[in-house]
Amino acid sequence: MLSDRDRTKLDPSDDRAFYDAPRFVTHADDAFLARLTALYDSVTSPGDRVFDAMGSWVSHLPDTDYDRVVGHGLNEAELAENDVLDEWFVRDFNADPSLPLDDAAFDAVCCALSVQYLQYPSDVFAAFARVLGPGGVLVVSFTDRMFPTKAVRAWRNASMDGRAELVAGYCREVGLAVETVVRERPGGDPFYAVVARHAPSDG
Ligand SMILES: C[S@@+](CC[C@H](N)C(=O)[O-])C[C@H]1O[C@@H](n2cnc3c(N)ncnc32)[C@H](O)[C@@H]1O
Repeated sequence: MLSDRDRTKLDPSDDRAFYDAPRFVTHADDAFLARLTALYDSVTSPGDRVFDAMGSWVSHLPDTDYDRVVGHGLNEAELAENDVLDEWFVRDFNADPSLPLDDAAFDAVCCALSVQYLQYPSDVFAAFARVLGPGGVLVVSFTDRMFPTKAVRAWRNASMDGRAELVAGYCREVGLAVETVVRERPGGDPFYAVVARHAPSDG
């Protein structure tokens, strides 16, 4: 979906170097994060297997008894601090967009406040779709904050609604059906989320 120009970043240096030092901060206000937790609560159930992609030291998940929560991010110290994760791995998706995870291993994939950094979203979303089982849900949330030097040009130049269209397009391109696009302002930060699903199995 992105042209070579669309995927350029102001800072083309290695993303792992940018995330070398841990940041034990949150990247949106409390109202945004509470709304995100409520959204996760509405689309997941106890016993689900959850993958938190592009994560950090906090996953914003509700206090639900999930079967398995796998995390991914760019900083080991942040992920080690995240106490909802059963396991985690580090991978720069702009260098390697694949996932070391089995097909159909998850009921939900979450990607919070991070999609703007993906230079090859088609490949990463294809991997998200691959690891989701039948009927599985993908939740991609974002606000208008970002590290601007690391966000792709297409994102920097788009309106908030344009960004929602971009994310919905990433989902549709890999065969996920867009179920809802949430556009709200629960506090100071706009709350946007695209909720997309795999078709349920025929059986
Ligand atoms: C603003 S933080 C959001 C972290 C977390 N999802 C949250 O809600 O607090 C951006 C995150 O995007 C991820 N990220 C950024 N660039 C990445 C890249 N090139 N490959 C993989 N992940 C990346 C990192 O995990 C980083 O912590």
